[in-house]
Amino acid sequence: MSAPAWPPEGRAPSPGEDVAQRQEGTSVSAPARPPEGRAPSPGEDVAQRQEGTPVSAPARPPEGRAPSPGEDVAQRQEGTSVSAPMLQLQDVVAGYGPVTVLNGLSMEVQAGSLTALLGRNGVGKSTTMKAVMGLAQVKSGRILFDGRDITHCRPDERAALGLGYVPQTRDIFPSLSVEENLVAGLKRFPSADLEQAYALFPRLRERRRNRGNQLSGGEQQMLSVARALLGRPRLLLLDEPLEGLAPVICQELLEAFRQLANEGGPAMLIVEQQVQEVLAFAQRGVILERGSVVHQSDCAMLRTRDDILDRYLGMAIE
Ligand SMILES: Nc1ncnc2c1ncn2[C@@H]1O[C@H](COP(=O)(O)OP(=O)(O)OP(=O)(O)O)[C@@H](O)[C@H]1O
Ligand SMILES: [Mg+2]
Repeated sequence: MSAPAWPPEGRAPSPGEDVAQRQEGTSVSAPARPPEGRAPSPGEDVAQRQEGTPVSAPARPPEGRAPSPGEDVAQRQEGTSVSAPMLQLQDVVAGYGPVTVLNGLSMEVQAGSLTALLGRNGVGKSTTMKAVMGLAQVKSGRILFDGRDITHCRPDERAALGLGYVPQTRDIFPSLSVEENLVAGLKRFPSADLEQAYALFPRLRERRRNRGNQLSGGEQQMLSVARALLGRPRLLLLDEPLEGLAPVICQELLEAFRQLANEGGPAMLIVEQQVQEVLAFAQRGVILERGSVVHQSDCAMLRTRDDILDRYLGMAIE
């Protein structure tokens, strides 16, 4: 399939997106990658916008900057060719009301990359995703998407900018059919988009007339991912997509994610407790502890670092 095969034309809401907001904006379907040579948006850092510019090693990060907290400098210099960050969290302090969960978290996701967000239970992985989507309260620090400061944007605005989110809770409508779930709230029937979704997840095509509550856990997860993809995200946040699923279904989902990546699909930030699986899938690994980043490096390197995996995740890869 010729790239970019995903997403096709049109878009649908991501979970958490206000359908009414979305419906008034046909402009949200505009391709979000800036065309070459366009002027930067207000607040946009031109340097950050130059994604796709090949950078020779050591490429990440650009020369001269200090390592992020917890970043291993030796490992950091291993990069070969990486573009400017698509998503940046800068010293983010965030939580829920009086509860602070993220304590000065700084991390980046590169355009077109697959990044794993790892850490023990309760360290703030879901909160990181919620902060990016505008679903947790950011008390200080900044979140940039394509160099644009989105720290105070509404969730629907973030979705319109190209952020897609599959929450840990999946959030599908139990009484609606698969197809109704996919098109719920859409202004037009996105047949081409649906075909793409069904091509990626053939099980959903078979089950298109079944209600949400008649689906297996794996099918529900596929539906949740497919619905997020109909939003035409350029960065897809996946919160524990493999949680509670049988190994064969996990492989099916991972295969779909790989296919998506190979077809020019969105960059992905993926939280997953199945560390072996995600380290084999992703390129970059970021580890959290108590709401901040304690380590980040390439997954190929991380897979060999039993000491780090054991220390921060309580496990070692065999
Ligand atoms: N809505 C909320 N209000 C108050 N505290 C919350 C809320 N949601 C999460 N927390 C707390 O924030 C901390 C981090 O939660 P979070 O869900 O981000 O962790 P996590 O790393 O995703 O964990 P898990 O691996 O169990 O999914 C936990 O102590 C949790 O109890
Ligand atoms: Mg979580």
